[in-house]
Amino acid sequence: MRMVAGYEGGKALAVIKYSEKVLEHFRNPKNIGMIEDADGQSTVGSPACGDQVSMFLKIREDRITDIKFLSYGCASNIATGSIITEMAKGKTLTEAKAITWKNAVDELGGLPPVKIHCSVLAIDGLRAAIQDYEEKTTGIKQERKVDEMMILDELKKVIYPKNGINIVDTNMIRYLSFEEGVITIEISIEETDLFKQNVLEEIDEHLEVLPGVRKIEIKVVEY
Ligand code: FES
Repeated sequence: MRMVAGYEGGKALAVIKYSEKVLEHFRNPKNIGMIEDADGQSTVGSPACGDQVSMFLKIREDRITDIKFLSYGCASNIATGSIITEMAKGKTLTEAKAITWKNAVDELGGLPPVKIHCSVLAIDGLRAAIQDYEEKTTGIKQERKVDEMMILDELKKVIYPKNGINIVDTNMIRYLSFEEGVITIEISIEETDLFKQNVLEEIDEHLEVLPGVRKIEIKVVEY
C-alpha cells in the first residue's frame, strides 16, 4: 500500500492508501483512447462525484476484439477503467457483462472504501457500451421496467463511503415501496454520520432519472 496526500484550495486532503497495482494502472493505464468506428460506445456519469467515463468497443461474433476508454475521473477511476478493459478484452459479451466492480477491485488489490464508487462508474460504462451495441444490432431499446427490484438494484450502486459496501448490503435500507410514481425509502443512518448528506443526495441522483418516478420520499431512521 502507498499513501497519497494532496492539497486543494490550500487545505490538506486526507491521506488515501492505494495498492501498488492501482498506482501502476493509474500511472500507465492500458487501453486509453477512442475507437472512431466503435460498434458500441457509452459515456456515463457518476452521481457520487459528477465525473465521467467513456467506453468504446469493437465486437466480432459476440466477442470484444478491442476496447478503449477515456476517463474524466480520479486515479481510482483511471485504474479501474484500465483493469476492466484488460479483463473484458477477448471476452464474449455475456462474460464481459458478468464482470462486477468487486471483480475489478479485487484484481486491483483493493480500493479505499471512499473510492469504491469510482469502480462502479467504470463498470457502468462497460455495461452501457455493451447495451449500446446490443440495441444497435437488434434495433430494440432495452428498457427495464421500474419496480422495487429494479430500484433496489440502483441502490446497490450507492456505496457507503465508510465501508466501501453498497447501502443495500450494508443493511441500511429498511423499507422500500414504489407506488404511483412515488418511491418511499426508509434508511437507517445516524444523524451525526459524516456521510449522511452525501448518501441521501446520491440516492436522489440515482433514482430521479428513472422513467415514471415523480417523487422520492426518504425517511431517515436510526435503528
Ligand atoms: Fe469521481 Fe473517482 S472521485 S471517479
